[in-house]
Amino acid sequence: MKSQKQIKNGMWSGRFENGMAKSMVDLSFSLDVDKELLEEDIQGSLAHGKALVEAKVLSGQEYSKIAGALHGILSDAKKGKNIWKSTDEDVHMAVERILTEKIGILGKKIHTGRSRNDQVATDFKLYMRNRTKDILDSLFKLQKTIYNLAEKHAGRLMPGYTHLQQAQPIQFSHYLMSLFFALERDKKRFCNLLSLHSECPLGSGAIAGSAFAYNRKAVAKNLGFESVSANSIDAISHRDMALEFLNNIAIIGSSLSRYAEDMVIWSSSEFGFLTLHDKFSSGSSMMPQKKNPDSMELIRGKAGRLIGNYTAMFTLVKGAPLTYSRDLQEDKAPVFDSTKTILICLQVFKEALESAKWNFDAMEKKMLPALLATDLADLLVESGVPFRDAHHIVGNLVGIAAKQGVDFTELPDEFWKDVPKAKNLRKKLTYAFSVSRRNIEGGTGEKALREQLRKARDFFHYI
Ligand code: ARG
Repeated sequence: MKSQKQIKNGMWSGRFENGMAKSMVDLSFSLDVDKELLEEDIQGSLAHGKALVEAKVLSGQEYSKIAGALHGILSDAKKGKNIWKSTDEDVHMAVERILTEKIGILGKKIHTGRSRNDQVATDFKLYMRNRTKDILDSLFKLQKTIYNLAEKHAGRLMPGYTHLQQAQPIQFSHYLMSLFFALERDKKRFCNLLSLHSECPLGSGAIAGSAFAYNRKAVAKNLGFESVSANSIDAISHRDMALEFLNNIAIIGSSLSRYAEDMVIWSSSEFGFLTLHDKFSSGSSMMPQKKNPDSMELIRGKAGRLIGNYTAMFTLVKGAPLTYSRDLQEDKAPVFDSTKTILICLQVFKEALESAKWNFDAMEKKMLPALLATDLADLLVESGVPFRDAHHIVGNLVGIAAKQGVDFTELPDEFWKDVPKAKNLRKKLTYAFSVSRRNIEGGTGEKALREQLRKARDFFHYI
């Protein structure tokens, strides 16, 4: 007698005497995760079914019935109906089960010439292609927000940092635009992904290719792919699209994390450059005065998770023998999780920037005259002093000032003896002067920033 705890799977149980152990069900059933692919699975089956008509496996009438039922499954799910059963191993088997319940024996024909191996590879690629478009859209929206802020606040100065030490004066908008151009590369990475992974796996079967007269090109076109995969083994086995997808997301996550880190620092009372809106902050359960920059801390934290998902995928694929091994089923959770995570991070980051209060007075007040040390050295060079000597002279001044606990610009004339035309130069040394000298392409000067904004507008055509 078979144990009550065993579950027989109708789809492939022909060869098996016994059902699956309950523990094995718990280990292997993936419906809870891969039902996320329902829409793509149904799109795939519609295209596959159409090709089966041309291959004379299905009549036109049979296909219409199948297509009607497939659309019905999707609309039921969209209406929130619970279409799933605990006996469904994965989304592909669930759809076939429901189809067969709806239209009888005909439902059992849809899997002709197809394996779940090429089916899942196709669904997964479609999913990533669709979500890539959502991610591109979110990246673009964040870029717009950044652009608008940068344009609005052009001319506002702040201390620029290296090693988290004040380095040189910059325009606040120059800082913001640095993220704009980083996001532009993120967009390009996703556009590359779309063009590189534009081949449809359907027709590859389990490993060796379908034995039916299957019009792969038509299926590919139907599903929005540009061409068909060249080798069935490669098409079934590789998960490099997922690796790239997760890598691209992890890169966005780590960029956002760095900017979020700056926002956390800037919103501290020590800096005070930024006040996040209440709706992107939280309080403390114990300390009534606290307003914490949780939105930014969470974005920083989520980057760890995105990198983890990427690492999980790499670890997963590196040892799985060709063509399909069941390990590959674990490819989906990281992709779904990273997709949702990055979309929410991009949204929150955008809204938090838009609603934040930028405290330009605080930025100005915090600027230390030492920010002008490089400018003084540059001015000395212009009056004929070799740069290394100029560096030394200014370094000396700054060192003396530090010992005396004053800014180097405040040192009395006697300390400026080594500086030719010191009086003149000292007058010139302002933050605005420093910025105005940096109109080199990519610099922080007014003209250079205007040029960045112009370049940025050129990128608006992407979406
Ligand atoms: N649920 C499986 C996965 O996502 C579908 C493919 C199963 N293929 C197989 N040969 N058992 O990987």
